[in-house]
Amino acid sequence: MTVAEERSDGSGPDEGADADLRLLQQSIAEVRRVIVGQDHMIERLLVALLARGHCLLEGVPGVAKTLAASTLATVVGGTFARIQFTPDLVPSDIVGTRVYHPSSESFDIELGPVFVNFLLADEVNRAPAKVQSALLEVMAERQVTLAGRTHPLPRPFIVLATQNPVESEGVYPLPEVQRDRFLFRVRVPHPTATEELEILHRMSVSPPLPGRVLDPARLTSLQKLADQVSVHQLVADYVVRLVMATRAPGEYGLRELAEAIEIGVSPRATLGLVAAGRALALLRGRDYLLPDDVRDVAVDVMGHRLMLTFDALADGVEPDEVVRRVLSAVPPPLVVWNQAQR
Ligand SMILES: Nc1ncnc2c1ncn2[C@@H]1O[C@H](COP(=O)(O)OP(=O)(O)O)[C@@H](O)[C@H]1O
Ligand SMILES: [Mg+2]
Repeated sequence: MTVAEERSDGSGPDEGADADLRLLQQSIAEVRRVIVGQDHMIERLLVALLARGHCLLEGVPGVAKTLAASTLATVVGGTFARIQFTPDLVPSDIVGTRVYHPSSESFDIELGPVFVNFLLADEVNRAPAKVQSALLEVMAERQVTLAGRTHPLPRPFIVLATQNPVESEGVYPLPEVQRDRFLFRVRVPHPTATEELEILHRMSVSPPLPGRVLDPARLTSLQKLADQVSVHQLVADYVVRLVMATRAPGEYGLRELAEAIEIGVSPRATLGLVAAGRALALLRGRDYLLPDDVRDVAVDVMGHRLMLTFDALADGVEPDEVVRRVLSAVPPPLVVWNQAQR
């Protein structure tokens, strides 16, 4: 049942929204029943879904990137497909193709596996550039054109991609114009010793199977709730200052970063900071955005969009560290909410 249906049942709009918010917490709990630790990755996956953003998980093999993405897809419901990216993949394996039927002497369109609500693009940097760009086009346009006809993708449509660290062997790194299409790039660390022990207990014999908590209709109504999270003018200004500081660091007291940053972040980062901040605020039970929400998502929204200079790369400067420096140099506003401001 959707929020709208619940309202027509006689319950108030807030009750419907509250019920959906409870389901959101239950979804996280359900994913946690399977995945040990990795709280940051799990929270970010859910925030990306709420913000209608695609999410790139980056980490060494075996840290549960694939398991987390497929578990989340089960918990949220909707249709799901996984594409394992390999060096021999071609674009039509992803988007579909025209197939000739000799019996009827006609062509048919065979749609590819991208026509689902959740697409797991596994090890996305193991496929060559033309396949990556086919995927990233789909991500931006949310439609596929085959033989002159346009086929819209289902809604919601969200790509959860995983990649091994770019330094690994045999990878084709995503160009930055393609990384820019992802709302988040989330680094997935190794588990701690305690977590390893728990993984051993939980996963070795009969690993838990996730159940379904949400459905696409409820997810859509939660996305709409996230859209309605209020953004104070001072917080919007703060977002813009963070973005501008990556483009003109000298003007924000960060002269040393001018040497490290080749190109600052794009307007997609501005939009992403607000969209992800709103979704995080909703997850934390608020209907207004705080500077803290923005700060919290800043590294995951901006890190992969920064283009560092050759010298900075050679010196091993980390983009995430650059974002943290920007956060410490740009003062957040003191926002006091009252009814009149909303
Ligand atoms: N945090 C974790 N919680 C539960 N199981 C884990 C965790 N980390 C690793 N595992 C186990 O290791 C396996 C490998 O995870 P996988 O998702 O295939 O890794 P990746 O996609 O990062 O290479 C999982 O199927 C699971 O059995
Ligand atoms: Mg994997």
